[in-house]
Amino acid sequence: MERRGSLAEDKGLTWYPIVGPLPPVGEMQRRTMQGHDFVIARSVDGYTAFNAACPHASAALVEGDLRSHYVICPLHNYRFALADGRCLKPKDGPRLRLYQVNVRDGQLWVGLPSRGGEAGGARAAEGL
Ligand code: FES
Repeated sequence: MERRGSLAEDKGLTWYPIVGPLPPVGEMQRRTMQGHDFVIARSVDGYTAFNAACPHASAALVEGDLRSHYVICPLHNYRFALADGRCLKPKDGPRLRLYQVNVRDGQLWVGLPSRGGEAGGARAAEGL
């Protein structure tokens, strides 16, 4: 089992399995679960989950360009770090909301916050 995050970081999160085929390396997939609209991205470093709408002007990030350590928005080309959601270009851009993910017994899970909770963020190495 590969897991990032501690029990303390799990506070306020409920974990859900991601069922069905997962995206291959270098691709993204949009999912909606429990009222959360997010993207599962699979880079060379593993899986990341983040809000489906760009924090700048709500473009669909799944239609953007996934690179090894960041995603590029298709509308104005802002770049967001997969590790922590910060905006890399421009530097003063808004932060992308990330969701916690982990791989447990070959299954990818996403930690979804209860209403009003913070998503936090972490990556999960492959291990599938
Ligand atoms: S909507 Fe994404 S950079 Fe503007």
